[in-house]
Amino acid sequence: MAEYTLKVRRFQPEPEDGVAAGPYWEEFDVELEDTLSVLDGILQAKNDQDGTLAVRCSCRAAICGSCGVKVNGQSTLACKTQLGEAAAEAERTATGNGANGAGKTVITVEPMANMPVIKDLVTDMESTHWEKYRRVSPWLMPTGPEPEREHIVPPEAMVDVTQSVACIQCGACVSACLSMEADPDFIGPAALAKAYRFIGDPRDGQHEERLYDLANDPHGIYDCTHCFSCIDACPKGVAPMNQIMRLRRIAGDDYGIADVNHGRNHELAFTKNIEKKGTLDESLLLQESYAPGVKGKLLPTRSAIKGLLESIPTAIRGIRTGKMRSIPKLIPGVHEKLPGDAQEHVKRIYARAEESHQELNLYMIGEGGEEEGAPEAEDVPAAAIVPEPDESREL
Ligand code: SF4
Ligand code: SF4
Ligand code: FES
Repeated sequence: MAEYTLKVRRFQPEPEDGVAAGPYWEEFDVELEDTLSVLDGILQAKNDQDGTLAVRCSCRAAICGSCGVKVNGQSTLACKTQLGEAAAEAERTATGNGANGAGKTVITVEPMANMPVIKDLVTDMESTHWEKYRRVSPWLMPTGPEPEREHIVPPEAMVDVTQSVACIQCGACVSACLSMEADPDFIGPAALAKAYRFIGDPRDGQHEERLYDLANDPHGIYDCTHCFSCIDACPKGVAPMNQIMRLRRIAGDDYGIADVNHGRNHELAFTKNIEKKGTLDESLLLQESYAPGVKGKLLPTRSAIKGLLESIPTAIRGIRTGKMRSIPKLIPGVHEKLPGDAQEHVKRIYARAEESHQELNLYMIGEGGEEEGAPEAEDVPAAAIVPEPDESREL
């Protein structure tokens, strides 16, 4: 048995029994095996010390998705986080203040972020998760004549969606999402991963309509900033960011969907820019994102002019923060290339990426062989490698 201190961020919705309304911290000392979970610790505190401590849980086995919290600042499942590991992490990062006055390791536990708190560790996931989940029509929409029995698909065609199928709707990725923090209307990682579950399903007949909708929503697939937080937070290996990138590739490469937000152009301009210069030419990126064309010339469509005018505040912020202070950073195309043959190395990376156009389902094979018994990539049977109709959906 080991002793731990759980420092819990509590929230009292209205005054009761001498406790004022609002947030406050409270510490609970618990004594448990280090292999037991943070949820076990919370439940011991609730049972033995304060029955009003609110937490949502059910399966205690990382299946139901109801115990999402933040442990030492990281969004996760309380039942999947061992006390011993959480204590070691708190000591390593000092997020839980390492140790309290009594020398016990302090593990901080908070409600999930990006969603309103109902009481203590219980959050309201309706507006931040479930509403967005329904927004992506999370059901199959097949077209064509009804089959006599069920829709038949070859098993290998479903490998592509196994990763997103694994989602247990815990909301940890929503809690961790930085774009959601900046734009609460962002559809978000969980709902978009669910969208891929149907867009990657060959039985669905609404792929283009779904993608058009998600690409042209200002809070849709191009609102993600590739921060990787959702990948780190997800307890089931869904990797929502990767599913969002797949949605973008299918929308842009397979269906040629040009979104009104210029997200697709921005992505293409970024990759072209780095391939040519090695580092980012900020002003050319801005121009090419809105008015793709020959260097230094604009294609003055109404939408391009509107986009460029709207980006003036961004450019001013860039000048203020020093990102676009020098002349080469202000004039599109004047940005210097990398010295020596460094640019050739960058081009070779691009060529290598082009050559290895295949998508491995990392959920099935384990990442880098980390999972015990997971085969190396080259050992993966052909059936686990998703054939790419246009060779463009690589991770
Ligand atoms: S990668 Fe995108 S979806 Fe995932 S947390 Fe970051 S901004 Fe959100
Ligand atoms: S994608 Fe992962 S973190 Fe997000 S809701 Fe699903 S299981 Fe939870
Ligand atoms: S209690 Fe079910 S996932 Fe934690």
